Amino acid sequence: MKIVATVALLQLCLSATAEVSGNGSTETVLTAALGDVVLLPCYDVGTATPTLTTWMKDGREVIRGGGTSSSPSPAGQRLAVLPNGSLNINGATPGDEGIYLCNSTIGNISYVARVVLQVVSGPENVSISIGPATALSNGTLIAFRGTTVSFNCSGLSHPSQELRWSFTGASSNNESLVATSDSWLGFTIKDIQPSAQGVYSCRANNTISHQAVNMSTQLLVYYVPDRHPECMWVPAQDPSHIQFNCTWFGAYPTPTLRWAEEKGAGHVYASEVTASLSVTLNRSALHDNQTLKCMAQHLALAAGKKKSCSFTLKPPYPEGEPLAMAQETTSVTLTCTETASIPPADTTWRKGLQQEVIVPSSKYVLSEEGPAFKLTIHNISKDDEGIYFCRSENPLSVRELEVYLTVRTSSAYTGAIIGIFIAALIVGSAAIIAKTVYSSRHRICLGGGFGNVEEDRGDVLSLVESEDEHIFQDDVPRLPPLTNGCHTTLVQIHRIPSSDHEDAETAADTSPEQQEESVQTEEPADLVTF
Ligand SMILES: *[C@@H]1O[C@H](CO)[C@@H](O)[C@H](O)[C@H]1NC(C)=O
Ligand SMILES: *[C@@H]1O[C@H](CO)[C@@H](O)[C@H](O)[C@H]1NC(C)=O
Ligand SMILES: *[C@@H]1O[C@H](CO)[C@@H](O)[C@H](O)[C@H]1NC(C)=O
Ligand SMILES: *[C@@H]1O[C@H](CO)[C@@H](O)[C@H](O)[C@H]1NC(C)=O
Ligand SMILES: *[C@@H]1O[C@H](CO)[C@@H](O)[C@H](O)[C@H]1NC(C)=O
Ligand SMILES: *[C@@H]1O[C@H](CO)[C@@H](O)[C@H](O)[C@H]1NC(C)=O
Ligand SMILES: *[C@@H]1O[C@H](CO)[C@@H](O)[C@H](O)[C@H]1NC(C)=O
Ligand SMILES: *[C@@H]1O[C@H](CO)[C@@H](O)[C@H](O)[C@H]1NC(C)=O
Ligand SMILES: *[C@@H]1O[C@H](CO)[C@@H](O)[C@H](O)[C@H]1NC(C)=O
Ligand SMILES: *[C@@H]1O[C@H](CO)[C@@H](O)[C@H](O)[C@H]1NC(C)=O
Ligand SMILES: *[C@@H]1O[C@H](CO)[C@@H](O)[C@H](O)[C@H]1NC(C)=O
Ligand SMILES: *[C@@H]1O[C@H](CO)[C@@H](O)[C@H](O)[C@H]1NC(C)=O
Repeated sequence: MKIVATVALLQLCLSATAEVSGNGSTETVLTAALGDVVLLPCYDVGTATPTLTTWMKDGREVIRGGGTSSSPSPAGQRLAVLPNGSLNINGATPGDEGIYLCNSTIGNISYVARVVLQVVSGPENVSISIGPATALSNGTLIAFRGTTVSFNCSGLSHPSQELRWSFTGASSNNESLVATSDSWLGFTIKDIQPSAQGVYSCRANNTISHQAVNMSTQLLVYYVPDRHPECMWVPAQDPSHIQFNCTWFGAYPTPTLRWAEEKGAGHVYASEVTASLSVTLNRSALHDNQTLKCMAQHLALAAGKKKSCSFTLKPPYPEGEPLAMAQETTSVTLTCTETASIPPADTTWRKGLQQEVIVPSSKYVLSEEGPAFKLTIHNISKDDEGIYFCRSENPLSVRELEVYLTVRTSSAYTGAIIGIFIAALIVGSAAIIAKTVYSSRHRICLGGGFGNVEEDRGDVLSLVESEDEHIFQDDVPRLPPLTNGCHTTLVQIHRIPSSDHEDAETAADTSPEQQEESVQTEEPADLVTF
């Protein structure tokens, strides 16, 4: 980019100082601008017309002429000796500079004059070059943040010039970046920052004529953030639509964002000059595995460097255990994990075939641990038994995980134990009877096989749950020993009342795994004592 200005100095810029010396000659210093018509005076006294005038420059005769008989000069039209002896230079050039001597003869008297001619020119062809930079159609230049930018101002002035850079920015003004008297003046800015954005001016000032030329260029510093745009998803007000947002802040100037489908026809949904572009799509237009991409376009993005974000749509897929078991009065936690859904699904727990949304309360505690959605039900009762749904919904579809919760009551549990006991009792009794009949055939007396059992426990058959290790032996009535030395065995079953201590113990258990474990460790068999 080069801005060239040509300055034509057309007006006469002439300053002359003359003095008349005592010996009848004069000395003059003349300054002429390039192209000017310059008149070098010779005979300055009186009105007489010299018969002959000779003009010498730097020791050589350049022209001679005189009076009315002056002939065309050998240098053509440019130089001419006027009737009064003055030298006329039509369009001064730098080559005309020098010390001129004239010798005019009037009669038998010679007049000698000395003229010093200086030709000044410029500043001209003043130009600014800034690079590397991209030019806009209006001449404004663009540099990219972080690059090293060189500034160069050049101009031509005769005999010398002063160059001066100045900067006017949004936050700072710098009156004089640098100044010199060379034909050009340059500087560089390394790692250019947005603060260097502004108007750069270069002024060339002729040191003799004080003619000055200004050149100025606006420089913009463009930049983009290192990060990629951010793709977001928000439910639209109308539930049949879905809004995708793409944001890319921190770029200057505002980038162009474009939402398009990556695969297939690459349909463009929206394209706009903005830092935040949202597009609202009908859910019916979306399908599994569809990739929606937001691309950023910016002049400051190097070729081949793409900044984008995208979604590949995936339906939700909630996962978890389909069966859960809990004991009455305890707590249970149902867990559902949703990792598949893109965009993220809205995952909720629901109850019953009507799929009533579970509202958090002291009974229902909802929690989220990363992708795991947990429902904890406190103080389980038989009413809690039934089907639960972990419902996951994203713009593509809805998918549910069914969880069936079985609640075990204490009575049902005891019933099972009674069953086991009765079975054991039948087997035991059969053995005892067989043995007794065998050992004492005359009288049947229970207790022969139990003689070694400790007295305080021997006559009690206790059946307890593991959680309750208290055996209520005090409640057991004992029969007095028979006179014949035989014992009568009393069999009593201790029913464990669903007492308060149990509540306290099980309230701490929350996970179904723990529940199950505690159920499994209850082994009634080893609690049957004889
Ligand atoms: C007289 O003229 C000559 C040349 O023209 C010059 O060199 C000299 O300085 C002059 N002398 C005086 C006293 O003006
Ligand atoms: C000589 O003649 C020209 C043109 O006629 C005039 O402009 C100039 O002033 C004259 N020079 C002197 C020293 O009288
Ligand atoms: C001026 O010219 C005349 C005649 O051509 C000559 O005699 C004289 O010496 C010259 N004067 C000077 C100072 O050159
Ligand atoms: C110059 O010429 C005039 C006549 O034109 C004459 O009177 C005079 O004497 C001459 N001077 C010299 C020094 O020759
Ligand atoms: C100024 O530029 C013009 C065009 O580029 C050129 O023709 C001219 O010679 C230049 N002037 C000087 C003094 O270099
Ligand atoms: C040139 O165009 C750019 C971008 O359109 C604008 O920011 C700038 O102000 C313009 N410069 C001038 C000097 O008009
Ligand atoms: C500045 O520009 C001038 C004239 O175009 C050139 O001669 C000079 O080498 C340049 N300086 C730099 C540092 O580029
Ligand atoms: C102007 O720029 C020069 C060179 O970069 C620097 O030395 C000077 O401090 C600046 N002046 C102001 C007022 O910013
Ligand atoms: C050119 O420089 C001179 C001396 O430094 C100064 O007085 C003059 O104002 C300058 N001209 C311009 C147009 O700046
Ligand atoms: C040149 O620049 C100076 C200082 O920057 C300013 O005062 C002046 O008005 C400018 N002149 C032109 C013609 O732009
Ligand atoms: C999405 O874009 C709209 C419109 O630009 C805006 O109102 C909304 O806040 C954006 N949503 C998010 C999550 O950024
Ligand atoms: C999704 O698209 C990719 C690439 O286009 C393809 O390899 C993959 O099989 C597709 N998956 C499904 C489930 O359509």
